[in-house]
Amino acid sequence: MNKKANINLVTDTTWGDSGKGKLVDYLARNVDMVLRYSGGPNAGHTVINDKGEFKLHVVPSGIFNPRVLNVITQGVVINPTLLVVEIKSLRERKIEVSSKNLLISSHAHLIMPWHILRDGLDEVARGGRNLGTTKQGIGPSYSDRTAREGLRVNDLFLPKEKLEKKVVSEYIWQSRLIRLMSGEKLLSDLDKTQIRNLTTKKLLEIHKKAQQIIPVDIKKLLAQLKEVSNLLRPMAGDTLKAIWKYWESGKSILGEGAQGALLDLDLGGYPFVTSSNPGLAGFLRTTGLFRNIQNVYGVTKAYSTRVGSGPMPTELKDSSGNHIQTVGKEVGTTTGRKRRCGWLDTLAVSYGAKISGSTALAIMKLDVLDELSEIKLAVGYKIGKKVVKYITDPSIIEYAKPVYETFSGWKVPTTGITSFANLPLNARKYLLRIETVVGLPIKFISVGAGREATIVRSLKK
Ligand code: IMP
Repeated sequence: MNKKANINLVTDTTWGDSGKGKLVDYLARNVDMVLRYSGGPNAGHTVINDKGEFKLHVVPSGIFNPRVLNVITQGVVINPTLLVVEIKSLRERKIEVSSKNLLISSHAHLIMPWHILRDGLDEVARGGRNLGTTKQGIGPSYSDRTAREGLRVNDLFLPKEKLEKKVVSEYIWQSRLIRLMSGEKLLSDLDKTQIRNLTTKKLLEIHKKAQQIIPVDIKKLLAQLKEVSNLLRPMAGDTLKAIWKYWESGKSILGEGAQGALLDLDLGGYPFVTSSNPGLAGFLRTTGLFRNIQNVYGVTKAYSTRVGSGPMPTELKDSSGNHIQTVGKEVGTTTGRKRRCGWLDTLAVSYGAKISGSTALAIMKLDVLDELSEIKLAVGYKIGKKVVKYITDPSIIEYAKPVYETFSGWKVPTTGITSFANLPLNARKYLLRIETVVGLPIKFISVGAGREATIVRSLKK
């Protein structure tokens, strides 16, 4: 029986990019294990600490604490080439990444070049209703996993001939899929509805044209895989063995979520979602740690952002939006796309907090609002003639007009403030209103990019 392990999670309540990396890095100073349990290189976790500024994609943000064992579970999809680049660039900056502090599940599925190709083709085929994916091959790799196809980390360590056979036969299988899809690519200016309206004769003609060669140099790919497998091998293994050992001996475990609750495949704003479960559900299904969860910290910024397509009721296309985008440096870590910015949407946060299992909130980047004279908070949605105060179906937000409460700004810098009591009165009013409307206490408030710019509140249990 375990000695009551202490398990906490950091997850995002809305559309990702909330600053989870910073909070994980902060909390990782006092934990034994950090687990990355979902998503893949679509994530970009920025960490700024005494060692510098880092952008992590798959390596857990606990990597900076030498005491922490970092784990990438089988819930994560791994692009082996990118993972090796990430590991090497950390090592170049004198951050240890070895079998001593990083464990990669041998059961994690791989993202191969054809997944990236399929991701792009899928988006073209979706036409005007594309999802704005990160084009990292996330959806196709998870689809293959669901279809019980594809390659996993342990395949990389097969003897040379077996690896070649497996990769080449997978390649041929994938080329069949891609050829079919390339028929649509040849008509990249047509969306799905237009394609459906073509005559059968025309479709057959396109299908013939689609017999083109998949643009992957298989020999080069095999050589690359051999090289990366040598580097990854010492770190790959049975992650559940390590996780359960830590759990049974009462150690402190921190789950690092990726993406955000509203991008959850099952309960997010389908179809504008990713292909995994970013919240507590994702953590449980990939670790089996169903007991001893203490806190799930639902992270959100003090305002809303979203990248990619999909509805965002509080999106601002005016000077306030530009101000937030510029001051908050709201640019995607992985894709370089400008993030859409808007006022904080408490209905989205409440819904996301519920489906991610959040027990308390972490409000990040409060300082980005410092200079604004007026701040708005969405506390309801007008849908048709009705005003709703909460949602149970996120797709409804497509038709929602936000109902705002307006707050006076505080107009003084908050960076450097170390306690809730010392925050300007108007900032406290704003935060306390968020607590009331969302119905969860705020545990952390971030007022700057660095690790130390974090206010921690002691909450009564
Ligand atoms: P995918 O995960 O690349 O398939 O993209 C699906 C949707 O999730 C798109 O709207 C992406 O912009 C969004 N998305 C995926 N990963 C992240 C992330 O880490 N932060 C924010 N949005 C993300």
